[in-house]
Amino acid sequence: MRTDLVVVGLGYVGLPLARRAHEAGLTVLGYDVSDAVVAGLDAGRSHVGDVSDEQLAAMRAAGFRAGTDPSVIRRADTVVICVPTGLSARRRPELGAVEAASRTVAAHLRTGTLVVLESTSHPGTTDDVVRPTLERTSGLRVGEDIHLGYSPERIDPGNKEFGLPNTPKVVSGCTPLCAKHAVAFYSRFVDTVVVSRGTREAEMAKLLENTYRFVNIALVDEVALLCDHMGIDVWDVLHCAATKPFGFEPFTPGAGVGGHCIPVDPHYLAAKADAEGFPLTLVPAAQGVLDRMPRHVVNRAAALLGETTGRSLRGARVLLLGVTYKPDVADVRETPAIPLARGLRAEGAELVYHDPYIPEFAVDGAVISRAASLTEALNDVDVAILLQGHACYDTSMVGRAGCPVLDTRGKVAGARTALL
Ligand SMILES: NC(=O)c1ccc[n+]([C@@H]2O[C@H](COP(=O)([O-])OP(=O)(O)OC[C@H]3O[C@@H](n4cnc5c(N)ncnc54)[C@H](O)[C@@H]3O)[C@@H](O)[C@H]2O)c1
Repeated sequence: MRTDLVVVGLGYVGLPLARRAHEAGLTVLGYDVSDAVVAGLDAGRSHVGDVSDEQLAAMRAAGFRAGTDPSVIRRADTVVICVPTGLSARRRPELGAVEAASRTVAAHLRTGTLVVLESTSHPGTTDDVVRPTLERTSGLRVGEDIHLGYSPERIDPGNKEFGLPNTPKVVSGCTPLCAKHAVAFYSRFVDTVVVSRGTREAEMAKLLENTYRFVNIALVDEVALLCDHMGIDVWDVLHCAATKPFGFEPFTPGAGVGGHCIPVDPHYLAAKADAEGFPLTLVPAAQGVLDRMPRHVVNRAAALLGETTGRSLRGARVLLLGVTYKPDVADVRETPAIPLARGLRAEGAELVYHDPYIPEFAVDGAVISRAASLTEALNDVDVAILLQGHACYDTSMVGRAGCPVLDTRGKVAGARTALL
């Protein structure tokens, strides 16, 4: 039996895509290499915040199934690849999952299928990595027997205003006919489709979007470091600058950048630029600033503790408030809380965390104890560090805490509160 869509890789991108396509009336199946992911979905449990168990149940009632058997791909009119594109320990792109998924798709491809890559990667990935794999293994020709395109995902986990349907979707094809098929597919469940000239332009657009955030966050971080050095209130500076109604986009400083995109994608751009013999200067410079931020926060916490209690971090109880990489999202991937915890431990601090979204938090295999009650924790530690401004945090209550508070988000006012 045919199905409109098979999603390959059912994570933060693939599962919401499957849900949206299902809501729009498409028949959808999923394929993933992970037994754990498939078992969870089979049991009706969503592991992705943007898809609830109820929504998953509705999908399943309409026929959605996740599986580890790739032969479902043969049934698809469209296959969308949403597998991870991470970095090695040396921050080099790792395309192993895209290559593996391309081989799997190729082995089960039939004439007329549209294949779209959604994984973020450097310009040329669709044409130089996916296309030859599909053609070599299947014997089918892109633009003639099958269609291939690239469409970057712009999902912003936890964003209540913009989701898949109302965020313009950049879509491209390896040939004009491929683009036409890709546009027809996405137009079924996305309000606005933006067609790029080719796959490289779409791939580059995605990297530009995230590198823009990366570089601008590093800029405000560096300004925050300078403000600290000069005794200037960086949050007031940002408040004033943000009143300019044109030409200024506000970004906020913090302990670092996290998540699966912003700390990763600029390195795809930089690596490709290196390979082209055109090394970038801004990405490494921005990374250098971002790498300094956890140490800065450790130093600020040590200074605050010294000023208010005369103690050092050695043996001090330090509370981390909000350990996710962004507010109101249950996701700790690449969270700056990790390097910060390492830095604090290296100084001999004893760590406790509070985060309503994260039931267990371990760094380098060592579990950090969880405070169940925020109020009790604030009276039980030597210093607290507000890392993430979850909406549920009553910042005026945090400001009246029994302990000094280092506020890295610019949200807490209090006599014993210090800013980043
Ligand atoms: N998370 C985001 O907010 C976000 C936003 C925009 C773009 N992206 C990009 O989308 C892509 C997917 O990211 P994600 O966050 O969904 O990743 P994820 O890790 O949440 O999910 C990826 C899934 O793919 C599966 N997988 C791995 N190799 C596979 C293979 N060969 N065949 C089938 N399944 C395979 C994994 O088991 C996992 O379930 C990445 O390129 C990422 O950069 C992510």
